[in-house]
Amino acid sequence: MSLVFSGIQPTGAIHVGNFAGAISNWVRLQQEMDCIFCIVDYHSLTVAYEASEMPRRVMDAALDILACGIDPERSRLFVQSHVPEHTELAWVLSCVAPMGELNRMTQFKEKSERVDWVNLGLYAYPVLQAADILLYKADVVPVGEDQVQHLEVTREIARRFNHQFGDTFPEPKPRLTRAARIMTLSDPTRKMSKSIEGSAIMLTDSEESIRKQIKRAVTDVGPPLEPGTMSPGVANLYSLLEVFAPAEVYARFKGDYERGELRYKDLKESLTEEMLRVLAPIRERRRELAARPGEVCRILKESAADLRARARMTMGEVREKLGLTACQ
Ligand code: AMP
Ligand code: TRP
Repeated sequence: MSLVFSGIQPTGAIHVGNFAGAISNWVRLQQEMDCIFCIVDYHSLTVAYEASEMPRRVMDAALDILACGIDPERSRLFVQSHVPEHTELAWVLSCVAPMGELNRMTQFKEKSERVDWVNLGLYAYPVLQAADILLYKADVVPVGEDQVQHLEVTREIARRFNHQFGDTFPEPKPRLTRAARIMTLSDPTRKMSKSIEGSAIMLTDSEESIRKQIKRAVTDVGPPLEPGTMSPGVANLYSLLEVFAPAEVYARFKGDYERGELRYKDLKESLTEEMLRVLAPIRERRRELAARPGEVCRILKESAADLRARARMTMGEVREKLGLTACQ
């Protein structure tokens, strides 16, 4: 049976891009596959942060993910630093990871432009990500489009390890949703991102704020388009509608567009209502869970204990293959 692994950084509230591109897929996949979801706190050490805020950020991520519908009875949800084998394997993999590939990473280039000096962790970030996935020998990785390049590196690392030390790791594949790249509503040429001020609709935003953001979304700007070509802003609203609305609502709007009968105002209004309809119970569940932090910690700790046993098995095999067996 396929094993699913995915992760998200504890860097503040989750936005509708994360939901559309990744978490909605996590919720769907857990119905049919064995799933492991990870709050990757070690990854988030690569950019400057306030240590005293980290526990809160991890808890917020756990609340968001559980509220979105990850079911702890079916899936594992844990914190990366609770399983130290992630960093042990990352070192091993860094010794087979080709620097030439890492030099091409778009996320590294973008992030390193925004800081005064660049730390090694930011550069080695995809190697730790490869370790996350390979430690459990996962083969399906539901992520947004921005992570496809990192998955290529993971596959390359797995291939090189297998070639040098014998067959050990499967080559994991990304699993994208049809809304794998949600853009900023006010600037549909840029990816929706937490790190761009005012770019993201957060799952926890108030109803009023969500209404306002969709109302102001950019639709057609710039030079006239070829007939039958959607502008990036309109295409983005359709991607969101596909995630948040029932199939028949989406099909109706698609039909309106094809017949040239679409009114942007109607599209925006329906999207707003559908999004609020999906987000209301998520917000309610989040409120309930937030009142029981002890239970959330229990879920995280139990998952970590279970996964640590699996991680140790993989590391045993890896040490053996590497010849780290003296005096045993
Ligand atoms: P991050 O917030 O960068 O930790 O991303 C968590 C997950 O959300 C990853 O799978 C990303 O690929 C996905 N993601 C982030 N931003 C977007 C976006 N604008 N559209 C679609 N997926 C996204
Ligand atoms: N790099 C991913 C992101 O920024 C988070 C991540 C870390 C991840 N490890 C992972 C995603 C393993 C999938 C699998 O979104």
